[in-house]
Amino acid sequence: MAQYDAIAHVYDRLNAELDYHAWADFVEACFDRHLSVRPSLVLDLACGTGSMTHALAARGYDMIGVDRSPEMLTEAYARAGEAMPLFLCQDMRSFELYGTVGAAVCCLDSINYLTGDGDLAACFATVHNYLDPDGLFLFDVNTPYKFAHVYGDNAYILEDEIDGRAVWCGWQNSYDAATGLCDFYLTLFEEDASGRYRRTEETQHERCFTHDTLLSALTTAGFAHLGTYADYAFTAPGERTERWYIAARAIKH
Ligand SMILES: C[S@@+](CC[C@H](N)C(=O)[O-])C[C@H]1O[C@@H](n2cnc3c(N)ncnc32)[C@H](O)[C@@H]1O
Repeated sequence: MAQYDAIAHVYDRLNAELDYHAWADFVEACFDRHLSVRPSLVLDLACGTGSMTHALAARGYDMIGVDRSPEMLTEAYARAGEAMPLFLCQDMRSFELYGTVGAAVCCLDSINYLTGDGDLAACFATVHNYLDPDGLFLFDVNTPYKFAHVYGDNAYILEDEIDGRAVWCGWQNSYDAATGLCDFYLTLFEEDASGRYRRTEETQHERCFTHDTLLSALTTAGFAHLGTYADYAFTAPGERTERWYIAARAIKH
């Protein structure tokens, strides 16, 4: 199965602990820190089920969500609030918009899904192309520390209940430090009306990027690096930081 086909319909339940309101507060704090005026039009790249897209739309931003998974976008449409974002089923390495945006966000380690040679450069170049001059690009990645010491070759079980029926998600990791590639083997067991369980499997892949690789790719694409933070309080990253939040400005001459 293609990545996210199998788990799109349970994705939000399995990530229910994530606080997108706090994350949207941080995004707005980044706007205030790094832009002279808040943007009106914002791109949510690899928007998935639209958690950030909807959180920012509810705050009055005109939102565009781009993702390559029709299943994830179907969930995003189903959650639409009063303000309906524009959702586009496109690849983050080569998407096309109708014009430029004031800011682009890319949340929850979606950048780590760029596993192929040249993918990171293609994505950053495309984002740069669709940002206003001095527009802001905010993204986060899983750090090398997290790949080596948290994901590693570990296994987890996520357990939940949807409409009174049990859902189990087994998650087995395999990380190769030499290639920087991490495979996630997901097995989903969903209880049906008769009490039987339906089993679905999906494999996902992420690439580990060093900070130097990310900064070099940003520079090549025409960005100025503005900051890397360990959390929503703009704390400087340390050796055990698991997620880097990176802000960059599109330089256009
Ligand atoms: C971990 S999910 C994050 C989704 C969303 N940003 C969030 O905060 O919940 C990663 C998303 O990246 C998308 N994705 C992965 N590779 C992509 C690509 N090349 N182009 C567009 N979307 C991609 C997946 O379909 C998935 O929705």
